[in-house]
Amino acid sequence: MCGIVGYIGSKNAVDLLINGLESLEYRGYDSAGIAVFDGEKINVKKEKGRLSGLRELIDKNPVSGKLGIGHTRWATHGVPSVKNSHPHTNSDGSIAVVHNGIIENHEALKDFLRENGYTFKSETDTEVIPLLIDYYYDGDLLSAVRKTAEKLDGSYAIGVIASAEPDKLVAVRKDSPLIVGLTDNGNFIASDIPAILSETRDVYLLNDGEFVTLTKDNVFVCDIDANPIKKEIYKVEFSAQASQKDGYDHFMMKEIHEQPQAIRNTLRGRLDKNLGLTLDNIEFSDKIQKLYIVACGTAYHAGLVGKKAIEKLAKLPCEVCLASEFRYGEPLINDSTAVLVVSQSGETADTLAVLRMAKKLGNTVYAITNVVGSSVAREADYVFYTYAGPEIAVASTKAYTTQLAAFYLFAVSLAEKRGTVSENKLDDIKNQLLGMDAVIEKALTRDAEVKALAEKIAKEHDIYFLGRGLDYFIALEASLKLKEISYIHSDAYASGELKHGPIALIEDGTVVISICTDPEISNKLNSNVKEVTARGAVTVGFTSCLSDTSAYSEVIELPQIDPLLAPLPAIIPLQLLAYYVCTAKGYDVDKPRNLAKSVTVE
Ligand code: F6R
Repeated sequence: MCGIVGYIGSKNAVDLLINGLESLEYRGYDSAGIAVFDGEKINVKKEKGRLSGLRELIDKNPVSGKLGIGHTRWATHGVPSVKNSHPHTNSDGSIAVVHNGIIENHEALKDFLRENGYTFKSETDTEVIPLLIDYYYDGDLLSAVRKTAEKLDGSYAIGVIASAEPDKLVAVRKDSPLIVGLTDNGNFIASDIPAILSETRDVYLLNDGEFVTLTKDNVFVCDIDANPIKKEIYKVEFSAQASQKDGYDHFMMKEIHEQPQAIRNTLRGRLDKNLGLTLDNIEFSDKIQKLYIVACGTAYHAGLVGKKAIEKLAKLPCEVCLASEFRYGEPLINDSTAVLVVSQSGETADTLAVLRMAKKLGNTVYAITNVVGSSVAREADYVFYTYAGPEIAVASTKAYTTQLAAFYLFAVSLAEKRGTVSENKLDDIKNQLLGMDAVIEKALTRDAEVKALAEKIAKEHDIYFLGRGLDYFIALEASLKLKEISYIHSDAYASGELKHGPIALIEDGTVVISICTDPEISNKLNSNVKEVTARGAVTVGFTSCLSDTSAYSEVIELPQIDPLLAPLPAIIPLQLLAYYVCTAKGYDVDKPRNLAKSVTVE
C-alpha cells in the first residue's frame, strides 16, 4: 500500500513523477504529493484525495526540476489530509522523504527526536524518517540514510532527496517493494514496474536491506555497511500497453475480458496439446504428507478450490489458511509438511511473513504468484508464475482465475506423480483445461443478462450468496467481489448452514443468489433455495445443472463443464455482476474506497 516513485536525470522530473504515480494509484489514493529540487530548494506539493487534485495544484503553481520524489498514499497512521501526505520533510525543508510501509517503533523514535529538540507537523509514522536523517546528516546523505535505517523497525521502501546533495537520490527497502529503472536520460525508483514502463524496461529488483544511490548516469547499490552489491539487469517483458485500458471504461472490465488469454498464458509451456504436463522445475518430495495453502482475500478463495482439486485428484491432505491467522496460529509445521503461498502481487505482507516463517522452520515453500520478480517469487523455493499480465483494478479477476488454473495443473501433476487417479480421468481434465479459454468466452456472453440483473439489484442493502461444495467457494468469491466495489453488504453461506442461523436474515424481498454447478448436489441446494423462497426471498440462480428452476425468480445459465473445474467459468458472470452493480451505482470501479491493490502492511 502506498506507491513511491523518484527520478534523477536530464528530463523534467514533474511529468515523470506524475505519470509514475498515475500507474501506482492502485496502491492507495488517499492523497498524493511530490517534492522536486528546482535548482535552489526543494518544492513540496501535496493534496488530499486523488492524483487529479495534485495535478490541478501543480497546474496552478507549476514547479520544475530534474530531481524529485513522489507518493500516493493509503493512510495507516493519521487521517487522509494534506498535513499527513508525503513527501515529509525536516524542519527547514532541506530533506524530503517518501515512504511505503509502517515504522513500528515510531513512538519510541518520536520520543528520542523530541528529546533532541525536534517537533512534528504530522500524525504519521513516516515523519520520523526525515527527522532522523536530519539528525544523522553530516554531509553524506547515503550514510545518514544507512544510520536511519538501522534505527527503523517495521517495513519500508524509502526515497530521499536533500538540497545539499542535489546530484543524488537515495533509497532503501525492507519488506516493501522497490525497483530501480535504468535509462540513458536518468534513473528511477518505483514501488512497481508499471510506474516506469513508459521510460524503460531495464530494471534492478532490489532485495531487502539494499540501499541505492541514483545519480543522473549511475546507480550504486550497497548494503547497510556500504559494501557494494552487484545487480543484474532484469528485462521487463510485458509492454506499457498491457497496463493501459485499451478502450475499456475500466481496468476491471478489461481484465475480466482478458481471462481467456490469461488462462492460455498460464497453461502455455506447461500443458501441451498432446497432454504432456510439466510444472516448470517444481519438485515435490515424497516426504510431503500435508500441504498448507496460505493466502489472503481472493487468493485465499482460490486456495479453497485448490485444496479440493489437490485432495480429490492427488489425495494429498491440504489445509487452507488465511495468512494473517496462520502466522500467529502456531501451525503444526514439521518434516512432512510443505507450504504453498498464493499471492497475485507477491508483496502481501502477511503472506510474505508466512513464507519467511515456513522457510525458517525448514519447510519447502511453493508459491503461485503473478508478479515476476516480486518478493514472494524471489524468496520461495519453487515459483509457479500465473503470467496473467499486470492486474491494475483493485478487485482481482484474472489473477483469481489464473490461480485456479495453476491449482488444477498442480493437482493433475501431483496425481500423475502419486498415481492416485486413472490416466483417462486425468487426460479428460487436461483436455477440458485446454478448452477452458473457449468456455470462459462462452461465460462472457452472459454480459447483457447480467447487466440487466445488476440494474435490478443495485439498490439492495444486503445480498446473500449460497452454494454447496465448490459452489460455496465460488459464492465466497462472488460475495467479496460484490461488496468490495458496490459497498452492498453481502455474505456467502454454505447452503446447508442456512438453518443453523443465517435463514433468520431472510425477509420479504431479500435477494439471495445461489450457485449450482454440481448435478450430484443440485437437489440439496434446490431444497435450500425453496426454504428461502418460502420466507419471501427473491432468488437468482447462476447454474449449469438445475433441472428444476421453479423456485427461482431468475436464472443465469453457466457453461457445462466437469464440476471440479466449474469455479473457473462460473465466476465470470459473477465478476460481471459486481462490475455492473458498481457502475449502476456510479462508484469508482477500479479504485474502491478504503482499499489498495497491494496490502504491504499487516
Ligand atoms: C480482492 C482482492 C484482495 C487480494 C488480497 C491478496 O479482489 O484483490 O482480496 O486478493 O489482498 O492479494 P495478493 O494476491 O496480491 O496477495
